[in-house]
Parts: sequence; C-alpha cells; structure tokens
Amino acid sequence: LSAVRAPGDLAGRHVVVSAGGTREPIDPVRFLGNRSSGRQGVELARAATARGAVVTLVAANVELPVHPSDVGQIVRVGSALELETAVRDAARDADVVVMAAAVADFRPARTPETKIKKVAGQAPAAIELVENPDILAGLARDRARAGQIVVGFAAETGDENGSVIDHGRAKARRKGADLLAVNEVGAHQGFGVADNTVTIVDPDGVVVGHSSGTKRDVADGIWDAVVGLLPPA
Ligand code: CTP
Ligand code: CA
Repeated sequence: LSAVRAPGDLAGRHVVVSAGGTREPIDPVRFLGNRSSGRQGVELARAATARGAVVTLVAANVELPVHPSDVGQIVRVGSALELETAVRDAARDADVVVMAAAVADFRPARTPETKIKKVAGQAPAAIELVENPDILAGLARDRARAGQIVVGFAAETGDENGSVIDHGRAKARRKGADLLAVNEVGAHQGFGVADNTVTIVDPDGVVVGHSSGTKRDVADGIWDAVVGLLPPA
C-alpha cells in the first residue's frame, strides 16, 4: 500500500459503486439472499468521496449506517434486476463503475403475488430458478462512455480445479473488466469481517496489484489502480 496519496486525485470524476447483496423475491415475504454486508462497497464509496469524486452508491439491502456526505448519492435497490437498472442509469455519465455488490446468479422464475402456503401432507413445490444478467460483463462489453473504467470483484475459494488466483484470472478474462479485485472467501475471510486482502488483475489475468488491510485500505488500493488507468480529465 502506498503511504502517500494525492488528495483529490479523483476530483471531478463521477464514480458509481454498487454494494451489498441482492435479494431475489420468492413471494411477497421471502427471498433468496447472500451474506454480503456491503462494507467493502461502502468503503469504496467513502474513499472515493474523500479523494474528491462525485459518487453514486447503488446499495442493495445495505443495513450499515451511510450518509450522503460520506458516500455520495445513495440509490437503494433490492433485486439483481433493480440493481442492473440503477447501475446502468448511473453509469451513463460515469468515469468509473465498480461492481462490489454480490449479485445473485439466479432468481426465482416466478414470484406469486400472494404468499406460498404449506399444505398438510403435501411435499413442497420446487422453486424454479432462471439466470440473472451478468451486469459486470454487460457494462464491460457495452461501455456507456468512451474510456469508462469498469472494475469487478471476484469472491473465490480454491478447489480441485485451481487456486483462488487461478479462478480469479480466468474470471478476469471472461468478464472483460479493466480491473478485477480477487478476494479469497471462506469461513473467516471476506464476508462480514473488517479486514480484507485482494489481488488486482487486468483483463488478461495479469496481476497488477495487491491490497490488504482494513476494507478502507483495500478500497484505497483499488482506487490507486483505477487512477493509473484514467484518461486525463
Ligand atoms: N456480477 C454481476 N452480475 C451477476 C453476477 C456477478 O455483475 N449476475 C459481478 C459481481 O458484482 C462481481 C463480479 O461479477 O463484481 C464477479 O462475481 P462472481 O459471483 O465472483 O462471478 P460469477 O461470474 O457470478 O461466477 P461464479 O459465481 O460462478 O464464480
Ligand atoms: Ca456469482
């Protein structure tokens, strides 16, 4: 981590950060969700605000205390489809878009308008799922503005098919984002905890940086990498 940073190195830039975790409705009272607290995304928004950016925080079910004076404009969303609409809308005049939200890969195919009831003696009905759009890949493919920087996160676990960084590098190639922050998740890492470690890779899967420490430190490390890619204002 660089100890000295130019204050205001994001001055005049509009950045969009998505944070939190989407909730996919099953019926009016239930949802499929995930454990993302939104902390890393909120820290990205705070750090960018501190560095002078005009920030739009698209917050999916973020329950942390956030204030526009620290994180910029807050747009609250629930589901992946709502998040997609809000991010695309905000991205139209953005210099940078960071997808830190944990987006559900699938959503229930149908969401009845009334609560699903159990029926005595009857087996539960299966919930059919359909795939959500890949918002990050879409943003990277159809840039809203020339020179716009698109950044993603990858939460990975090592398995028999490869290490955390192997999976992260493959994902970077698939997504086409300018930077991908690869994050090891497990019982005691990533989700819900204060400290974090990311390896930053480019679209070819080449490692271009590392950042660890508090989620604020990691946020600043990611902005350092972004600042290096921004075209002159
Ligand atoms: N992402 C997205 N839209 C989705 C799924 C993910 O924009 N439908 C974004 C996330 O915000 C993150 C990045 O893509 O920035 C990587 O998310 P991840 O879940 O790690 O990747 P997936 O492509 O969904 O692959 P998998 O979950 O199978 O590992
Ligand atoms: Ca996923």
